[in-house]
Amino acid sequence: MSLSEAAIAVQKMAYVPYSRFKVGAAIRAVSGNVYSGCNVENVAYPQGTCAEAGAIAAMVAGGDTEIAEVVVVADSTDPTPPCGGCRQKLREFAGPDVTVTMLTLDGRSLTMTMEALLPGAFAKSHMDRA
Ligand code: THU
Repeated sequence: MSLSEAAIAVQKMAYVPYSRFKVGAAIRAVSGNVYSGCNVENVAYPQGTCAEAGAIAAMVAGGDTEIAEVVVVADSTDPTPPCGGCRQKLREFAGPDVTVTMLTLDGRSLTMTMEALLPGAFAKSHMDRA
């Protein structure tokens, strides 16, 4: 199964009774392993989690911490980008040149690097004087 197919498959599993907006994310780790996640909403809205966060949790639980590539899928007119928080979460495990491909269900696609999605990211080095 390709990374896109993994993201499309998991997008169908999203638990979205409040927004009705299903998102799927798939990560290929540097090891070659593929991990996927979907958004899981909650009646206490801020407790909901994004698809990317689910995929990252699966990756770490699977023993990987280096991201090679990401695909995010949603049923939107324009490709859906990771939210701000997810950009930072992905950047924890993805270098600046890692690509995030955003797909719509009707075949539109946009690919951006992590650096383009989150320029000037906060990093461990910013805490060097602490
Ligand atoms: N959502 C994601 O899963 N990933 C994103 O990066 C954008 C937003 C989800 C969260 C919520 O369940 C729904 O989309 C609407 O915001």
